[in-house]
Amino acid sequence: MGAGVETLVVGVAGGTGSGKTTLTRALLERCEGPPSVLYHDNYYHRQDELTYAEREKVNYDDLDAFDNDLFVEHLRTLRTGAAVESPVYDFSIHNRSDETTTVEPASVVIVEGILIFAEPRICALLDIKLFVDTDADVRLLRRIKRDVVDRGRTLQSVEEQYLGTVKPMHELYVEPSKRNADIIIPEGGHNIVAMDMILGHIRAGMSSGNR
Ligand code: C5P
Repeated sequence: MGAGVETLVVGVAGGTGSGKTTLTRALLERCEGPPSVLYHDNYYHRQDELTYAEREKVNYDDLDAFDNDLFVEHLRTLRTGAAVESPVYDFSIHNRSDETTTVEPASVVIVEGILIFAEPRICALLDIKLFVDTDADVRLLRRIKRDVVDRGRTLQSVEEQYLGTVKPMHELYVEPSKRNADIIIPEGGHNIVAMDMILGHIRAGMSSGNR
C-alpha cells in the first residue's frame, strides 16, 4: 500500500475467552486485502528483571501491564501507511520473546485486545469499535481449556488467577469499556448477521474514505 492511502482501523475487544480471535479470523477471511492485525497482547511489558515465579503473579489484566506508549506509536505508524516491527509475546514464559514480527500497512487494520476500549489513546485511533459479548461462564470454560491444554497451566493456577485478577479487572475495566463500542456482538465470529453488517460498513467506509 502506498503512502497517502487511507487506513480503516477496526478494534475488536471483549473479555478473555469471548471469541475475539474467532471474530478477527472471520474478518480476515472475508475482507478484501487482506487486513493486517495488531495484537495488544504482544505489547505486554518486557519483565526480564523478574523471576518466572514473580512473573506468574503479575496482574496481566491491568492496563499498566502493557507498553501502551509503544502500542499507540505503532498504531499511529500503521495509520500513516508504514510497517511496524511488533514485539512477540510468549505466554509460556510470561514475557516478551526476543523475536519481532513485521506488521504491514493495509487498507484495513484490525486491532485486538481485552483492554483496547479502556485506553482513551487507543480508542481515539479506532474507526470501528466491535465488542464481543459472551457470558462469563462460557468465557471461563474456554479460558480453563486454553490455559490448561495450550499453555500448560494447572487448574489451581487458572483458578487463582481468574479469581484474583482476571474477574475483578474484567468487572472494573473490560465490562465498562463496552460503552465505548460502536457495535456489541453476541458470540462474535459465529454471528453471521452481525458479520454481514460489519463487512458492509467496512466496504462503505473504504469506498467513501469518509472516516
Ligand atoms: O486471549 P485473551 O483475550 O484471553 O488474552 C488476555 C488474557 O491473557 C488476560 O486475561 C491475561 O490474564 C492473560 N495472560 C496470562 N498470562 C500472561 C499474559 C496474559 O494468563 N503472561
